[in-house]
Amino acid sequence: MQRRDWLAAAAALAAMPLGATAELRPARTMPRSGEALPGVGLGTWLTFHVDPDDAGVMAARRAVLEAFFGAGGALIDSSPMYDTAEQVLGRLLPGLPGARRLYSATKVWTPFEAAGPGQLERSLQRWGLPRFDLLQVHNLLAWRGHMRTLTDWKARGLVRHLGVTTSHGNKHDEMRDVLEAEGRRLDVLQITYNPVDRRAEPLMQRAADLGLAVIVNRPFDGGDLLRRLARVPLPPLAAELQCTSWAALVLKWELSHPAVTVAIPATRRADHCLQNMEALRGPLPDLRARAALGAEIERALGA
Ligand SMILES: NC(=O)c1ccc[n+]([C@@H]2O[C@H](COP(=O)([O-])OP(=O)(O)OC[C@H]3O[C@@H](n4cnc5c(N)ncnc54)[C@H](OP(=O)(O)O)[C@@H]3O)[C@@H](O)[C@H]2O)c1
Repeated sequence: MQRRDWLAAAAALAAMPLGATAELRPARTMPRSGEALPGVGLGTWLTFHVDPDDAGVMAARRAVLEAFFGAGGALIDSSPMYDTAEQVLGRLLPGLPGARRLYSATKVWTPFEAAGPGQLERSLQRWGLPRFDLLQVHNLLAWRGHMRTLTDWKARGLVRHLGVTTSHGNKHDEMRDVLEAEGRRLDVLQITYNPVDRRAEPLMQRAADLGLAVIVNRPFDGGDLLRRLARVPLPPLAAELQCTSWAALVLKWELSHPAVTVAIPATRRADHCLQNMEALRGPLPDLRARAALGAEIERALGA
């Protein structure tokens, strides 16, 4: 679905009575390629930075990946910054049921343009892949130089989509400059967005206007958000949205922003992963239900 069609549908939805009236799943496409992606992906910061030779911890991470793919997941996000995470993925992915659906997303993370290609080659080896679906410049580090490398890698078929990331509010001005300078070459903006940090909304909107997909990082504010909500009962809207956890509700709030394509929560636990994947099922809130859900989350956080 084109963005303007989605906006027309969203406007029609806003005129309907409050509630979960429609399935907005078609919004989960990469705008440039039209490729469909499940709206919940998997982050790996800290959670997959484990000892690849520790059989117990590797079995636990395998269970997370099995839950993820079993529930229909595809996008896994990592980075050379995440220490052993890429290596752990490379060990666990082969032979996992559902892993053929993998949409691999990693990053280049070095202040030196000349070090970019070597790092990308090491990442391919660690993941055990011939190419990446998405390569992103991590935290805008040396982005001008790395964009040259990434563009070259795309031309050579070693990467399909290009992106830039940040999780720092103080980088938003620079990110705006990047979008204006490189918007036509980029496919993805990855940025922090959740109910307690909405600062990215103008950038998300600009990215969507330029035809970029938006990947939401830190969807649970690093886990703090769910810890604060843990003892608060779910609002009645949860039943309408077919959510049995705050985790799924928060993700549905994020995914129902018109610019958002995928959110990438990280977890060490298969049961948490299944809760998060629940956001793929049942309806997303329409615009008015989204506003009501946002108010419920604010109320719950204040409780
Ligand atoms: N600049 C960048 O490129 C950048 C910056 C930040 C993040 N990222 C990416 O975005 C991903 C997500 O961000 P994040 O890892 O910082 O934070 P996050 O996803 O907001 O939060 C992760 C925390 O949430 C907890 N959690 C997950 N699901 C849960 C559930 N259902 N119930 C209760 N707790 C749950 C996890 O604990 P448990 O292990 O106990 O489940 C974990 O501690 C990262 O892993 C990374 O891939 C990118």
